[in-house]
Amino acid sequence: MAQKLQSVRGMNDLLPSQIARWHRVEAVLRAVGWAYGYQEIRTPMVEQAELFTQSIGDQTDIVQKEMYIFADRERQQLALRPEATASVVRACNQHGLLHNAQQRLWYLGPMFRRERPQQGRYRQFHQFGVEAFGWAEPDMDAEVLRLSARIWRRLQVRDVHLQINTLGSPQNQQAYRQALQDYFGKHRQQLDADSVRRLDTNPLRILDSKVADTMALVADAPDLRLFLDDEIRRRFERLCELLHQAELPFTVNPRLVRGLDYYTGTVFEWVTEQLGAQNAVCAGGRYDRLVENRGGHVCPAVGFALGLERMVELLRAQEESDDNAANVTNSAPADIYVLSVTENKSVTTEATASVATVSEMLRDADADYKIIAHYGGGKLNKQMKRAAASGARFAVITNADAHAANPVQVKKLHAADAQQPMHTINLNALAAWLKDNFSFSK
Ligand code: HAM
Repeated sequence: MAQKLQSVRGMNDLLPSQIARWHRVEAVLRAVGWAYGYQEIRTPMVEQAELFTQSIGDQTDIVQKEMYIFADRERQQLALRPEATASVVRACNQHGLLHNAQQRLWYLGPMFRRERPQQGRYRQFHQFGVEAFGWAEPDMDAEVLRLSARIWRRLQVRDVHLQINTLGSPQNQQAYRQALQDYFGKHRQQLDADSVRRLDTNPLRILDSKVADTMALVADAPDLRLFLDDEIRRRFERLCELLHQAELPFTVNPRLVRGLDYYTGTVFEWVTEQLGAQNAVCAGGRYDRLVENRGGHVCPAVGFALGLERMVELLRAQEESDDNAANVTNSAPADIYVLSVTENKSVTTEATASVATVSEMLRDADADYKIIAHYGGGKLNKQMKRAAASGARFAVITNADAHAANPVQVKKLHAADAQQPMHTINLNALAAWLKDNFSFSK
């Protein structure tokens, strides 16, 4: 027997039994994006590798360890996108979307990072992101945070908390980096191996270390706030004011740094305690230099991305703990199940044809019906069992022996109607009969 192939590690199938929760989340994301006037943009999953190396930073973990890079047949270095901010900036520059224009954009799709898979961390995962181009003031930082808070409200997600920080201008970051190198350099022996490696390349990331000895050093490391210039400080204070006005609770976490180098100014994360080590559900910030660094005009920008797997998992855990099983219907039940009876075992093809014809006719009559056609014949009681299992309210039984399957019989399937007899109805009156009976029993 041929060997059964498995999916690639860290890349998951989404099965029909899981999809309803995804649809619910996606519908809310689209609706909230729409409510704030954001427009959808779709960019390719594959880009030139250098787009990410240059945008995210060539010393970041994403670029150093996690990107899927490959040479195509023309030996071009391509990459599966690890995130979409760089792609959206590229697309805006390429199509002139930012020429004398501001843009509010959103996207949703798969991203790829070759991280060590664990709960909430996958190699293919999905992000919903928003990016606002052309606004420098913190009103827009506040808008994207309000937008994200509305997503939690609409999905009734609890237990997510907002942390914010500001990383300062590139000059502030440079001075801070130097201060960190001086400080950690003096304690090199106490640092873990990863942090030693980061000391020269990306010392800010040492602040993120989860190693106990390094964390003890981090506690006394220089404070970024001392390195901020007045303008950055003013904007951050204004953002805090705006969030207070919006009654959006938050914590200032001066140690919050991000794994991507393009940030300038505000950074933030929505974190939860429900997902173990992978506690960030949504994260982002300002990246006021990226558009010009990628060949565009000067254009301030701010945005975030939300991890759908983490979001769906959070909802699942919450609904299970609420014992709210009613909310978790996996797939919508059918409305109508169409089957056929025949005395003659050899006429299955006619039976199938009559089932298909009647199903199509009903779909023409009302595009909102969910209609399941039963193919392959079989004993009537078996077919009726399938009809009941589909959750349908009506079984329509065609007679394959009769010409043009006319008339048909209809049986109401729901428990409350179980005692009602079969109704015999002419085909040309069937759609109207169903419509009446649907609205009557809804
Ligand atoms: P990020 O922090 O790398 O930011 O990712 C954002 C979110 O994507 C994370 O908070 C998490 O929920 C989810 N995520 C990241 N990696 C994984 C993974 N391996 N498995 C499952 N979920 C994951 C960005 O990607 C930026 N582009 C966000 C941004 C947009 N900044 C400005 N605009």
